[in-house]
Amino acid sequence: MAVPMVGRAAALDELRQAWQRVDGGGGCLPAVLTGEPGTGKSALVGALLRDVRPGTVLTGAARLHSPAPYDWLAAVLAGRDTGALPVPPDALAWLAQRPDVPRERYTPEALLRLAVAAVRALVGAGPAVLVVEDLHALDPASLNLVGELAATDLPTLLLVTSRPPDAAESPQLAARSLARLSGVPGAVRQHLGALEAGHVAQIIAHAYPDAPPSAQLASAVWQRTGGNPYRLTELLAMAAGRGPQALVDEPLPGYLQPAAPDQAPEPELTAREREVLGCLAEGMSNKQIARALEISVRTVTVHVSNLLRKTGASSRTEVALRAVRAGTRADRHPSVHR
Ligand SMILES: Nc1ncnc2c1ncn2[C@@H]1O[C@H](COP(=O)(O)OP(=O)(O)OP(=O)(O)O)[C@@H](O)[C@H]1O
Ligand SMILES: [Mg+2]
Repeated sequence: MAVPMVGRAAALDELRQAWQRVDGGGGCLPAVLTGEPGTGKSALVGALLRDVRPGTVLTGAARLHSPAPYDWLAAVLAGRDTGALPVPPDALAWLAQRPDVPRERYTPEALLRLAVAAVRALVGAGPAVLVVEDLHALDPASLNLVGELAATDLPTLLLVTSRPPDAAESPQLAARSLARLSGVPGAVRQHLGALEAGHVAQIIAHAYPDAPPSAQLASAVWQRTGGNPYRLTELLAMAAGRGPQALVDEPLPGYLQPAAPDQAPEPELTAREREVLGCLAEGMSNKQIARALEISVRTVTVHVSNLLRKTGASSRTEVALRAVRAGTRADRHPSVHR
């Protein structure tokens, strides 16, 4: 049974408004969605696309097994008629990762320029949505391209999803890339956290329409899944065909268990501080953090100064860089005490 989207109405609304801004004119507008694996970034992208039905959608992602230059564009070009693109055929062979690529004849700068020209031609008069899935896994050439696109006047919503930079091959590159996108004026920045207990209860109630589960059971499921939509949907599938009690009794395979805390000593941070730290590591401004976490800018500044004090860092950049380097856990668990 399909699980209804819960708990992301405000996020969806903000994205819808961003699309309206693009539709009304103006250049490329980045909307960056970050979150731990399975928090529903792709689901949110899907919900937006179903909702606004853009005329043109260009979607690409990294090839998981052997990432190569321009993976994003190659995925976009795959299966498309590229005959009319203003790009010489041999350059196109490189950009589309055709097996019969000619000998290298283009400098990286020239290829980048041609890659932008190809996207420009595909967008046409627009407006369009460019979907960049899993930026953390992308190759450096694609990251560069995405950064370039963000600076163009193309009438596009540049919808980017990413796990936190510490999941990337090169955390610093991913962090810089996210910061560049977030820094575009008007950019939308959302950090998807865990679902709240009430949302988990809503999903369970939907799955068991004939035997509404107790609040106690819903709360137990929330705790054991950490409020993570992926873990929850997997658990629902595993327990399917039995009563709701199976959601609690079913043993969890290792891959569904919330990540064990690192052994390395870390300063004692509150759940909120970890969330703020995660946002800092992704290059968000205080204003963007405030919007992403739905708290006031003033509260953000308090969290940031506490973070500086607890970590002994001298600036927010230093805190962010340390978090990226150390792969400090940020927002991996829902705050049970919130
Ligand atoms: N808000 C939600 N309400 C209900 N179900 C959800 C919600 N968000 C995500 N899901 C479900 O949880 C699962 C994981 O979501 P999704 O694949 O979008 O996560 P993700 O953040 O893109 O993960 P990854 O980092 O692995 O790409 C999907 O089955 C999705 O339908
Ligand atoms: Mg995804």
